[in-house]
Amino acid sequence: MKITIIGTGYVGLVTGACLAELGNDVFCLDVDQRKVDILNNGGIPIHEPGLEEVVERNRAAGRLQFSTDVAASVAHGDIQFIAVGTPPDEDGSADLQYVLAAARNIGRYMEGFKVVVDKSTVPVGTADRVKAAIADELAQRGKTELSFSVVSNPEFLKEGAAVEDFMRPDRIVIGHDQSPEGLHAQTLMKKLYAPFNRNHERTYWMDVRSAEFTKYAANAMLATRISFMNELANLADKVGADIESVRHGIGSDPRIGHSFLYAGCGYGGSCFPKDVQALERTARDYDQSLLILRAVEQVNDLQKHVLGKKVVARFGEDLAGKHFALWGLAFKPNTDDMREASSRVLIGELVRRGATVAVYDPVAMKEASRVLQLDFADDAALLQRIRFGTSPMDTLQDADALAIVTEWKAFRSPDFERVKATLKNPVIFDGRNLFDPQLMADSGIEYYGIGRSLLARGQ
Ligand code: UDX
Repeated sequence: MKITIIGTGYVGLVTGACLAELGNDVFCLDVDQRKVDILNNGGIPIHEPGLEEVVERNRAAGRLQFSTDVAASVAHGDIQFIAVGTPPDEDGSADLQYVLAAARNIGRYMEGFKVVVDKSTVPVGTADRVKAAIADELAQRGKTELSFSVVSNPEFLKEGAAVEDFMRPDRIVIGHDQSPEGLHAQTLMKKLYAPFNRNHERTYWMDVRSAEFTKYAANAMLATRISFMNELANLADKVGADIESVRHGIGSDPRIGHSFLYAGCGYGGSCFPKDVQALERTARDYDQSLLILRAVEQVNDLQKHVLGKKVVARFGEDLAGKHFALWGLAFKPNTDDMREASSRVLIGELVRRGATVAVYDPVAMKEASRVLQLDFADDAALLQRIRFGTSPMDTLQDADALAIVTEWKAFRSPDFERVKATLKNPVIFDGRNLFDPQLMADSGIEYYGIGRSLLARGQ
């Protein structure tokens, strides 16, 4: 099938490359010439396991092309995926200017039936606005006889596992209307996704608004679980319970389940923080309140400070002269994405209190350097307090303690004897509960996890 993907960001690039991998003829459009050049020269602008190979293989096979030519992109695809960014406005609502500009371009150049797919995460009701924008352009051209249908097909990809998630989806949610165009769109979408439904049906067909809502509801539910576990962990610390035991104890109830139940130093990334805010905003627009989500967000903001608080409780408010090692910068493993990463909050807290830090991340060093320069643009002296290490062990030199912010595999089983011998004090603040507190105690390491203090191991 002939497919156009508008926007070669994270979602667009993964969608385009994977649809090409299935044998479709895919045209990816981006306004950013630099990005298009990188992609046409065999590179990819983001870090995502396995993606580069899929892009390269399909580009070489002629099934995947990248361009800035808007007219050609509209002419190419019978199905036009809109996968552009929807950054949050100041008030938390999703900024739809790029989505609507993409819609207008389709209306400006289309000459035959198009299925327009909202792939970007967009508030409920956006499909109607996309429809109106296209219709408006068609009216201006005097081409109202041209027909199209707007469907919603939200993505549920996780960074770091996006290719795998796309190729083996748990579910494909598609919202369409019941008009003749909507039903024709359904037929085309069915054909496009047929390869995923071979063994059992994974597609959930619904109306457009429900599909749009499903994406926000899923992310809000997951964020809620995390914030709730984080609050329970903080309480566990106080009452002397171990949140990891509690996690096993409650997760074994199938109504609760084991996944996404890990307490830690807060969630980050491009989705949860933004989508939680946007859903709250939608609720307000309809004079409803989503009290739970407000709390989810507040808890998460506080949780990003939890390691900083533990450091202060151990080393005091004034950290001048202290030096810390920090492992993990990206908001989660297998990505270089630093958006809303908890590491930024901890680094800020440490250097503002006068400490210096040596940081290390297996892939996010370059992105971290860029982002931290922006974070400390107003105070270059603070930036001077951050050193970028060359390996996890290298950061430990002369450090008063180690803080772990991201659960990269590479950090899971360090040589603890070496860690102990290299640190000035054998102290670990573990924001992702990677280690067994008993093992740490036996190794003579002073260990602070999240919700694992068991009354400071007195038990
Ligand atoms: C998320 C959704 O999972 C995905 O379906 C949606 O399409 C986009 O948003 P992503 O942001 O890539 O994906 O990351 P995810 O793996 O969900 O993790 C988000 C954050 O939650 C990370 O910071 C992670 O460390 C944190 N997290 C996750 C926890 O703190 N505890 C958990 O149990 C799980």
